[in-house]
Amino acid sequence: MKIKKERKGTSPQPVSLISLVDPSSPIAEQYRTIRTNIQFASSADQQVKTLVVTSSGPSEGKSLTSANLAVVFAQTGQKVLLVDADMRKPTIYKTFQLNNESGLSTVLSTGAGVVETVQNTPVENLSVLTNGPKPPNPSELLASVKMNQIIDEMRNLYDVIIFDMPPVVTVTDAQIMSSKADGTLLVVRENWTRKDALNQAKESLALVKARLLGVVYNGAEQNKDKAYYYYSD
Ligand SMILES: Nc1ncnc2c1ncn2[C@@H]1O[C@H](COP(=O)(O)OP(=O)(O)OP(=O)(O)O)[C@@H](O)[C@H]1O
Ligand SMILES: [Mg+2]
Repeated sequence: MKIKKERKGTSPQPVSLISLVDPSSPIAEQYRTIRTNIQFASSADQQVKTLVVTSSGPSEGKSLTSANLAVVFAQTGQKVLLVDADMRKPTIYKTFQLNNESGLSTVLSTGAGVVETVQNTPVENLSVLTNGPKPPNPSELLASVKMNQIIDEMRNLYDVIIFDMPPVVTVTDAQIMSSKADGTLLVVRENWTRKDALNQAKESLALVKARLLGVVYNGAEQNKDKAYYYYSD
């Protein structure tokens, strides 16, 4: 499975659902390992039901990680909702080839409900809430009381909810959502992520008391066995 690298000046590309198309590949196995680690981090008093996926900077593999994690969680039979909460550079609707006329921004800014806006995917047990039309004020929408109500509604409807977010360092969206979620994963990309940016991201998350579950290491090349691994803090 080849993944095209994003070129400068092009719009964000859909990412590869390798866990779906090649479930026996070493990379799909690594996503299942991440899933297991998250399941172990979840206990009766510290449940991990809502999960934020972010990284320090752009193009580090946040959307790739969220989409593939959503697939491997759905493969366990749990009801999974993948939310494209990156209302700035959304890609999930392209990855799953979904209509994006309405989505999270619609639910947040109109009377539309989660149930009627969520879309099914060909993956059993996996639903997606796309980003919806681009709003002028993503951070304010995510920080709103309405967002808290929406998260509560999602928690009642699904077993696992995964939020794909923008980078931590440039905008505050991921910080906001990490403060609301049960757990956060930070994606680090080989030969790409800057150490100072990573430290800054960790500090920003600590500031809002985010529960950092671990770091997902996204290898530079898809075809390396070590492409992905996970370690707990
Ligand atoms: N390990 C990898 N090997 C090859 N290509 C990769 C790898 N990880 C990500 N990519 C590619 O890099 C691009 C960016 O990945 P992705 O969209 O998942 O990153 P992102 O962190 O969500 O980016 P953004 O900051 O724009 O939201 C995509 O085209 C993706 O297919
Ligand atoms: Mg992305």
